[in-house]
Amino acid sequence: MPSGFMLACLLAFTLQIFFSLPPVSSDSLLPMISTFQGLIKLGEGVVNYPEDVAVDRNGVVYTATRDGWIMRLQNNGTWKNWKLIHSQTLLGITTTKEKNNLIVCDSDKGLLKVSENGVTVLASHVTGSKLRFANDVIEASDGSLYITVSSTKFAPKAYYLDLVEGEPHGQLLRYDPSSKQVSIVLEGLYFANGVALSKHGDFVVVCESWKFRCIKHWLKLGDKRDREIFIENLPGGPDNINLAPDGSFWISLIKVFKIYI
Ligand SMILES: *[C@@H]1O[C@H](CO)[C@@H](O)[C@H](O)[C@H]1NC(C)=O
Repeated sequence: MPSGFMLACLLAFTLQIFFSLPPVSSDSLLPMISTFQGLIKLGEGVVNYPEDVAVDRNGVVYTATRDGWIMRLQNNGTWKNWKLIHSQTLLGITTTKEKNNLIVCDSDKGLLKVSENGVTVLASHVTGSKLRFANDVIEASDGSLYITVSSTKFAPKAYYLDLVEGEPHGQLLRYDPSSKQVSIVLEGLYFANGVALSKHGDFVVVCESWKFRCIKHWLKLGDKRDREIFIENLPGGPDNINLAPDGSFWISLIKVFKIYI
């Protein structure tokens, strides 16, 4: 199995990068197991590789699947295939407050808007280049959308090459609803993944999977720096992040070590 051997070499190399980082005091950061007691699985065997969930202003739960469906959780606990988007590359989703639309990251097409009326492409380019590998999106209080791009160099299928290369090809973008243009807010991120807005709407948190950390970006910079460490030395690569009602954040982690060893 030469390809397996190659992968092992690449991973050995990768882990060396990780192990040369400062020691991680990881377990103390993990929530108590009791936090997860009473956890129930939604859509097991029905929902095909969902990447993200969003809850609209009426409390309806949505997810986007790998086979291109936007699915909606109904009151009786069953899932409805709501809208079909012909795409195998749907990632993060969010809802907008004012119009209650769904915004979906399509890592091939860009940023999509989904409503009862259908699907439209909101943004497909950023400063003249194709908008690719959009991973997650959140709406700020002023109606602009903050979008992560995980890698400007590698496609989602080759995400592990981005990990092995270890260079920061990630970005944070902003979609301005009045000009309908996308601009670059931050560059040089290590696989920008989940993005969440703070409770008071004054900053966003962006997770950098390959750095095991999330950074904070103030939306009104003033004399603040454009990025600060929000949390680091996480016990895994942070994936999605969501705001909890009390102002804290839920972060899902990719157990990089456990998967491969
Ligand atoms: C659940 O609710 C939907 C919509 O109201 C309905 O169409 C469906 O038949 C219900 N399914 C079950 C198993 O009750």
